Amino acid sequence: MTLTDKGAIVTGGAGGIGQGIVRHFLKQGAKVLVVDIVDQAAGDELVTGFEPADNVRYLQSDISVAENAPVIVAAAVDAFGKLDILVNNAHASRQAPITETTQEMWDLSLGSGMYATFHLMQAAYPELKKTKGAIVNFASGAGLAGLPNQVTYAAAKEAIRAITRVAAHEWAADGIRANLVAPVALTPGIQQWAQAFPTEYEQVVKGVPLGRLGDPENDIAPAVAFLAGDESRYITGQTLMTDGGSIMLH
Ligand SMILES: NC(=O)c1ccc[n+]([C@@H]2O[C@H](COP(=O)([O-])OP(=O)(O)OC[C@H]3O[C@@H](n4cnc5c(N)ncnc54)[C@H](O)[C@@H]3O)[C@@H](O)[C@H]2O)c1
Repeated sequence: MTLTDKGAIVTGGAGGIGQGIVRHFLKQGAKVLVVDIVDQAAGDELVTGFEPADNVRYLQSDISVAENAPVIVAAAVDAFGKLDILVNNAHASRQAPITETTQEMWDLSLGSGMYATFHLMQAAYPELKKTKGAIVNFASGAGLAGLPNQVTYAAAKEAIRAITRVAAHEWAADGIRANLVAPVALTPGIQQWAQAFPTEYEQVVKGVPLGRLGDPENDIAPAVAFLAGDESRYITGQTLMTDGGSIMLH
C-alpha cells in the first residue's frame, strides 16, 4: 500500500472521478475526508459504502466559499491528526460559446475551480508543511487545447495549472510538492451524455489513442495516488496527462 496512514482531503469526492479516487486511496491505506456540496445525509450514506468505512469521513461544504477552506482543513486534522494530501478535484461549470457566456458562468467556474483550489491550498499550507505533503490539482485537455464552448472552464483550468506551478516553486523548500492530473474518464455524467449523443461520443473515443475513456478508479485514481505519494518525491509542478494519449505534451 502506497498511502498507508496518510491523511487526505478529496474535494468532489461524491462525484465521478472523485469517488474513484476515494476508493483507491482507501485501498492504498489512506484516511480520507470527502468534501462535496452534496448534502450531509447523502454524503454520510455514500461513505458508509466505502471500504474500510472507518478510514473515511464526509463533510458537506461549498468549496467556492473562501471561508470554508480553513474549516475543511481543520476537519481533516481533527479527524486524522494531520494532513498529508490535498486533492482539488471538484469543479463545476457550464458550456456556452464566448458570445453567450455570462458573468454567472464565470463566477461558477472560477469560484468552484480556480478560487476553491487556491483557497484550499492556502489553508492547507501550514499543515502540509508539517508533513511535507503533496497537492494534486485537476487540469483538463479543454484548457490545454482551448476547446470551443468551454471558455470559463478552460480559463479556470489553465489558471489552476499556473497556480500549481507557482506553489511548486514557492513551497519546494518546505518539502511540499504540487502537481496536476489532466484526465479523460468515463464518469456517470459522461455515460449519460454518451447515451444521448452516441455519434459525438464515438468521435471522442476515436480521439483517444488507447481507444477508450478512462475508468475513474482503475485508470485515473492510480495517477493521482502516484503524485500524492512518496514514489513521486522528485516530481513537482508537472501536469500528468491521464487521458489515453489524447494530448501528448512536448
Ligand atoms: N470526466 C472527465 O473526463 C474530465 C476531463 C477533464 C477534466 N476533468 C476534471 O476532473 C475533475 C472531476 O471531474 P468529474 O467528471 O468527476 O466531475 P463530476 O461533475 O462528476 O464531479 C464533480 C463533483 O464536485 C462536486 N462539486 C461541484 N461544485 C462543488 C462545490 N462548489 N463545492 C463542493 N463540491 C462541489 C459535485 O457535487 C460533484 O460531486 C474535475 O476537476 C474536472 O474538471 C474531468
